[in-house]
Amino acid sequence: MTGSRMRRLTAVIICGLIGSYACPEPQNATTTTTSAEVVVAVVSPTNSALSTTTTQPVTSLAEAVTTTTALDNTATATLHNKVVIDNTLPSGTNPLANNIENVTWLGYQIANNSCSHRDLGFAGKLGGKWYSIFGDTLWAAPGVTDMFLDPPGFHGMVRDSISLLTDDPLTVVDLHLNDDEPVPHQLQFVPFNEEWGETNQYGFGGTSLCEVDEETGMGVLYYLVVSFQCSCEGSYCADGRQNGNESLGLIGAGVARVELIDEVPTVTHRYGSQGWWWDSKKYARYGDQIAYRDENSEYIYIWGGPPDYIKGWSTINYHYLARVKAKKAFDLGAYEYYWGKQKGWRKQVLDRFDTETSVMWGSGQGQVHWSEYWGCYLLVHLGIAGGAVFIRTADNLEGPWTPDVQIFQAMPIDDGLVYAGVAHPYLDETGKTLVVSYTNNNHIEVLRVEFA
Ligand SMILES: *[C@@H]1O[C@H](CO)[C@@H](O)[C@H](O)[C@H]1NC(C)=O
Ligand SMILES: *[C@@H]1O[C@H](CO)[C@@H](O)[C@H](O)[C@H]1NC(C)=O
Ligand SMILES: *[C@@H]1O[C@H](CO)[C@@H](O)[C@H](O)[C@H]1NC(C)=O
Ligand SMILES: *[C@@H]1O[C@H](CO)[C@@H](O)[C@H](O)[C@H]1NC(C)=O
Repeated sequence: MTGSRMRRLTAVIICGLIGSYACPEPQNATTTTTSAEVVVAVVSPTNSALSTTTTQPVTSLAEAVTTTTALDNTATATLHNKVVIDNTLPSGTNPLANNIENVTWLGYQIANNSCSHRDLGFAGKLGGKWYSIFGDTLWAAPGVTDMFLDPPGFHGMVRDSISLLTDDPLTVVDLHLNDDEPVPHQLQFVPFNEEWGETNQYGFGGTSLCEVDEETGMGVLYYLVVSFQCSCEGSYCADGRQNGNESLGLIGAGVARVELIDEVPTVTHRYGSQGWWWDSKKYARYGDQIAYRDENSEYIYIWGGPPDYIKGWSTINYHYLARVKAKKAFDLGAYEYYWGKQKGWRKQVLDRFDTETSVMWGSGQGQVHWSEYWGCYLLVHLGIAGGAVFIRTADNLEGPWTPDVQIFQAMPIDDGLVYAGVAHPYLDETGKTLVVSYTNNNHIEVLRVEFA
């Protein structure tokens, strides 16, 4: 097993974890491909009691139209305005189009006090400082300080980690270090709990840290608990055993409380009787794709992919939205779920996954922020394959989102996966420039975008 094969394996795990970001599946997606089920609403403008909503399985927009027409034939004469509701279609104009002045590839983001290969690195603010939350963190070999000089092999790993971001977008300071000498490595940020059956074969798809209380430096971390069943018969396992075979099981999405202990953000509590709240067998994986502390309201918004039973390249790439007032982030009962533009926010947990209840399609994991410069929200993401870096915009977090503008095309390192867009808006609060990072085969690459 070589180092690069090990890293590739980890990337593939993440690929499964995050839906289909960069999975090498056939990509014939066009705007005519809709979800496997389309909601067909037959609306009476004069008598709402006569209106019906039916869910029909379809494979294309053309089929959806046919289905709608068939329903029309059975509807009474008073019912009309048949609509295939798709709240995910891009809408409006992206103000960034033709307004990207300059994009500079700055280099790799590295830690100045440790050495690992890793992914994600979503930026979140706590008590006035910014931190990045990484996913799988593969330690470099003992004593190695330059990840490009890391010899092949598996040298240990944790499933997530946290670092302090600095004024230099290429430098982070790793936190929660172990005692390895001469170079320490990071400890896991969200702890496993053996009482819940968790082992080091469990992963945590961590997204952003969102501030709950600035005074005390308390935050909430959203994550997805995943189990890797290791049968050790196929290729190899993430814990370094050879001839293993990992298969992935999504368990549930949850939250942890993060507090400053000795000025270092530390997970002090995981919520839910099993350490998660939203069962991935039934509900969206809230927070797994994007988590954002809205700068213009009291809310935290969390986006996630559909539950595990939803299959199919197109359907798993829809995003579902929930929100909570930041101060209530640890109270499951305070969350609200978005049922689509027509039904709005509800206390009832969303259990219908279609183009009406979804807010957008096809961004994979990314990061949202409010741009002073553009006067709207920007979502930095890498789509679901291909290594292109995109930004889409919206006036409201519920959408609709504009079409994407591509700002960069990354070159995959060793044919690895490129995914997970991160925004670093704190580096230029005017928003005239924006630093963006993303994962390229377990290296974090950094760009600076200058807007016209
Ligand atoms: C899908 O893409 C492949 C490769 O580009 C092409 O050969 C095939 O015809 C496409 N299929 C459809 C249904 O468009
Ligand atoms: C783009 O930005 C870089 C770094 O600031 C600068 O060196 C370069 O001249 C700029 N290019 C253009 C075309 O403005
Ligand atoms: C790493 O960077 C931080 C922030 O710039 C700095 O305070 C610290 O001294 C640096 N550590 C090392 C080992 O260079
Ligand atoms: C891994 O194990 C699963 C379950 O035993 C099996 O279905 C799958 O084919 C195996 N994959 C490989 C690559 O061996």
